[in-house]
Amino acid sequence: MENFAVAIVGGTGNLGSALALRLGAPGVKIIIGSRDAEKAKKAVETLQPHLRAGEMFGTTNREAVKDANFVVIAVPYEGQAQMVQDLKGQLAGKIVIDTVVPLNKIQPFVPPAGSALQEAQQIIGDEAPVIGALHNISAVDLGDINAPLGDVLVCGDNAEAKQKVMEIITRIGAMAYDAGPASNAYVIEGLTGVIIALNRKYKSKHGSIKITGIGGH
Ligand SMILES: NC(=O)c1ccc[n+]([C@@H]2O[C@H](COP(=O)([O-])OP(=O)(O)OC[C@H]3O[C@@H](n4cnc5c(N)ncnc54)[C@H](OP(=O)(O)O)[C@@H]3O)[C@@H](O)[C@H]2O)c1
Repeated sequence: MENFAVAIVGGTGNLGSALALRLGAPGVKIIIGSRDAEKAKKAVETLQPHLRAGEMFGTTNREAVKDANFVVIAVPYEGQAQMVQDLKGQLAGKIVIDTVVPLNKIQPFVPPAGSALQEAQQIIGDEAPVIGALHNISAVDLGDINAPLGDVLVCGDNAEAKQKVMEIITRIGAMAYDAGPASNAYVIEGLTGVIIALNRKYKSKHGSIKITGIGGH
């Protein structure tokens, strides 16, 4: 996969900004999306000096997705449905990567659609596949390009799209696992609530997961 563009919807936030830095590589175009174009541009000014390679731009979420091959949804769950609804019609031919964890403060919950991922897919319909990833990664570690990353469980119903997302995860330095269909997303999303509890208990910002016992991966 060469010369591709990734739009990060909510890219001004903790996870999106950290992911942008990890994605920096020759031939990768990163578009930071925000509800406010000026905020996106300011975020790019802050991030740009730390970018290893690649190009970075900032604009509105809706503009950001236009030229992208991959669209990362990195907004809080409360904003996801409206955001995805607003982007609908612009997503054909793209792959949507959903990082969203439904949390009530720090408590995970299962939304009516079964998961945040399935809710996004219901709204988007057949226009684009939605693949879940990066839920269990620490944004702090993601933003430090020298920090080791935990494993990433990737789930979704479109095998080809899932494979491409796994390639991106590998490129940012994490081990990606095919964690099954979209119906598994609620477990992966909810696991983040457990990691938050672990981080609180053990006073860390680096909690993540490691899969063991899978040979030959
Ligand atoms: N932080 C982590 O370590 C981590 C790890 C795994 C998964 N996640 C998931 O990743 C997503 C983003 O997390 P985060 O910590 O980066 O969140 P965040 O910093 O609180 O928010 C990310 C961005 O979303 C936009 N936003 C906020 N409220 C919104 C709303 N109601 N509607 C639309 N956009 C809104 C804001 O951008 P603008 O104001 O510029 O529009 C904000 O900068 C969440 O769903 C979270 O569960 C986070």
